[in-house]
Amino acid sequence: MKKDVISILDLTADEFVQVIDLALLLKDQRARGEDHSLEKRYTLGMIFEKASTRTRISFEVGMFELGGHALFLNPNDMQLGRGEIVEDTAKVLSRYLSAVMIRSKSHATVMELAEHATIPVINGLSDLEHPCQILADVMTMREKFGVLEGLEIAWVGDGNNVCNSLILASALAGYHIRVATPGGVYAPDASVLAKADAIGATYTICATPAEAVTGADVVYTDTWISMGDEAEKEERLRAFAGYCVDEELLALAAGRAIVMHCLPAHRGEEISPAVIDGEKSVVFDQAENRLHAQKALLSLLLER
Ligand code: CP
Ligand code: NVA
Repeated sequence: MKKDVISILDLTADEFVQVIDLALLLKDQRARGEDHSLEKRYTLGMIFEKASTRTRISFEVGMFELGGHALFLNPNDMQLGRGEIVEDTAKVLSRYLSAVMIRSKSHATVMELAEHATIPVINGLSDLEHPCQILADVMTMREKFGVLEGLEIAWVGDGNNVCNSLILASALAGYHIRVATPGGVYAPDASVLAKADAIGATYTICATPAEAVTGADVVYTDTWISMGDEAEKEERLRAFAGYCVDEELLALAAGRAIVMHCLPAHRGEEISPAVIDGEKSVVFDQAENRLHAQKALLSLLLER
């Protein structure tokens, strides 16, 4: 049976730990120059309906390093862009490829592709979730703190796709997350919170950034204007006033705190230059760990 990763919750707690452990091992093997090719020469199709630097490059390099091959697929250059339906595309891709990754404008498209594909489908970011990001983030937390249980994570900013997956992953990783958003349309998705409650995710919704950050081990933020939200830029900049992760806010965190951001960042908006470029920032470790975590995920999905 093929396995898809559309939500971070498509991994069981055991699989989640298995991916993180393997990611750490693959990182060591890569640093030592050891070959870690998979048993077969697998192929990964990568459909991008939105821009990407990290996801595209880390998946492409990752497949190469696993002894396989990745294909960048621009929907506008495929018949998909001329109206061929997702169902037929899924069936055709399944005849050529070992797996497919999709970054889509709509979570429903990712679900539809997975429903009709007979190969594993990986969500490379949708409007609802960003599971691959969270695998790299949790790997980074393991590297920095050793254990995940008991960690206090503060999310400051938009209750977006990254925030949603980070909340859900608390049920797998064992950390606690405190979420500070301006509320309303900027709060985490109601369906995500309902799911979080159902699976015993450990999160608290906070009234202010200061409440979330005080004593936190990890301070995490992301852009206030996600891909697709550009038309709302001015109202969003107004809504998020007071939500910048700057030195004053960070001073409330635990002494050992690290600063995380999935990137791309907007210095002077969600995060100050001094914080993102400061000594507590681990943003480039997170970016690097996308490579290792996705190689581990691909290994699990392709050779299970
Ligand atoms: N963090 C992340 O997914 O980056 P890209 O948009 O560059 O892939
Ligand atoms: N929340 C951001 C993440 C980018 C990696 C977006 O969806 O644009």
